[in-house]
Amino acid sequence: MTIQIAPSILSADFCNLERDLDAISNADLVHVDVMDHHFVPNLTLGEPIVKRICEVTKLPVDVHLMIEDPDRWAPEYAKLGAASVSFHMGATHAPVRLARQLREMGCKACYAVRPAEPVEPIFDILDEFDMVLIMTVEPGFGGQKFLANQMSKVRRLRDEITRRGLSTHIQVDGGVSPSTAPTVAEAGADVMVAGSAVYGAQDPAAAINDIRDRAQA
Ligand code: DX5
Ligand code: ZN
Repeated sequence: MTIQIAPSILSADFCNLERDLDAISNADLVHVDVMDHHFVPNLTLGEPIVKRICEVTKLPVDVHLMIEDPDRWAPEYAKLGAASVSFHMGATHAPVRLARQLREMGCKACYAVRPAEPVEPIFDILDEFDMVLIMTVEPGFGGQKFLANQMSKVRRLRDEITRRGLSTHIQVDGGVSPSTAPTVAEAGADVMVAGSAVYGAQDPAAAINDIRDRAQA
C-alpha cells in the first residue's frame, strides 16, 4: 500500500509558516488543524490563514476541523482551496449532507472519530467519504502519546473497506513517529499525520522520509 505522509503545521513556527511549509515539500499533504476553543480546549487558526496556506503551498491542503458546527463552516474551507476537509462525528449534524456538499465542490470528504467513538456507525455511510480519520490521541494538542489501543479500530475499518472493494483512505492522527509508523501501517492506515515528529526533528524532510520508509518496510 502506498503510504502518504501529512505533516501537521500545528507544530510549525506560526511566525515562519512559509519557511516551515517549504521545509516539508517532500510530503504528500499538508495537514492544517483548525480548533475553536469549544469542540476542543485549544484555539489555532481559521479561514484567513488557511487561505494563504492554500495560495503558498504546492501540496494538497488537508484541513482537520476540530470545531463545533462543521455543517456551517466546512464548505468555506473547500471554497478556499482545501483538497480535503475532515469533520468530527461528535460535532456534525448531517454528515452525509455535508460530505455530498464538499464532494460537489471538488473537495474530498473525511469523517473523523475520537478515541472513545466507535467506527462501526460509519460503515453504513462509508461510500459517502473519501477518507476516515482515526484519532490516536484526544484531539486538541500536538505532542501527545500515541494510543495503540486504536489499532483494532483501524483493522476493523480496513477489513470493511477491503471486503466491499472501496478505495476509502484511512488516516491516523496523533503520536505518529518513525517508531509508531510500522504499527499504524500494519493495522491498515495509509495516510499518516505527524506534527511533533516532523517539526520537532532537526531536519523535517528527513523525518518525513524516515516515517515513510519505516511504514513501508
Ligand atoms: C491533534 C491534532 C494533530 C496534531 C498531531 O489534535 O489533530 O494533527 O498536530 O500532533 P502530533 O503528531 O505531535 O501528535
Ligand atoms: Zn489533526
